[in-house]
Amino acid sequence: MSTVYLNGEYLPKDRAMISVDDRGFLLSDGIYEVTPAYRGRLFRVEQHMRRLRHGLDALRIEYDSAGLPEMHAELIAANSLDTEEVAIVYLQITRGVAPRTHHFPPAGTLPTVYAFAQVHRRPESARWEQGYEAVTVPDERWARVDIKSIGLLPNVLAQQAAVEAGVADALLVKDGVALEGSHNNVFAVLDGVVTTHPATQQILHGVTRAYVIELAREHGIPVEERPVPLEEMRAADEIFFTGTTTEVRPTVRLDDQPVGNGKVGPVAKALYEAFQAGTRA
Ligand code: PDD
Repeated sequence: MSTVYLNGEYLPKDRAMISVDDRGFLLSDGIYEVTPAYRGRLFRVEQHMRRLRHGLDALRIEYDSAGLPEMHAELIAANSLDTEEVAIVYLQITRGVAPRTHHFPPAGTLPTVYAFAQVHRRPESARWEQGYEAVTVPDERWARVDIKSIGLLPNVLAQQAAVEAGVADALLVKDGVALEGSHNNVFAVLDGVVTTHPATQQILHGVTRAYVIELAREHGIPVEERPVPLEEMRAADEIFFTGTTTEVRPTVRLDDQPVGNGKVGPVAKALYEAFQAGTRA
């Protein structure tokens, strides 16, 4: 039985209970974070907590997040995940429990804070080397997807479309622009330039995205942040997705057409190697 965190307590998962009046359940009124740990060490936890803070402030959920990194470390330890290559901590904060109204609940309503930790399995390198496929899906999300809201219906439907197409990733497209994946960011390699949508309100500001940009620059690979039209994406030499559970995942077929030469490209490979080395350091 795993140990989870709920409102200040560590307890067995089957004893963690949440009210049916929770605004997360009734209204998707909350946000979440997913933070990785490599061999028990949290990776870029400050960046994840900064993004969480941005979401809490944008949604006006009052919560002191100072103790969260320590809670994350506790959960990793309590679930004996220190020796795993990759583990993740999922954290969700909702506006709390109150009779259902659209407007905010009475002042003093405490947010609900829930977290769990679990192992994450990286693909075998032979599988990774084969590359992955993706399909395009219209982006039907709201206008503030920089907030990591638990309201994920369009993401759920997009990823289900990918699953039903038998592929790994869904590429969300709005007004002809390839924005990001259902649960990851997307990059194209265009004439040697690693190109990705700028960190606006139209994408989630991925912690992995920022790290991969840093790694590219460190390796002397040029980076450009600009909107990438889908048609340009289709003609890219390489496409890859990035994210906490995705790490760096190369796309070799998009909508059943080969990307570049149809094989995993050198840029994705170099960046994945650098990424893995960075998480081991
Ligand atoms: N997803 N874009 C979207 C829409 C996401 O949901 C995520 C993360 C990312 C990548 O962000 P990061 O590199 O910080 O993980 C981009 C998490 C992992 C999830 O929903 O499980």
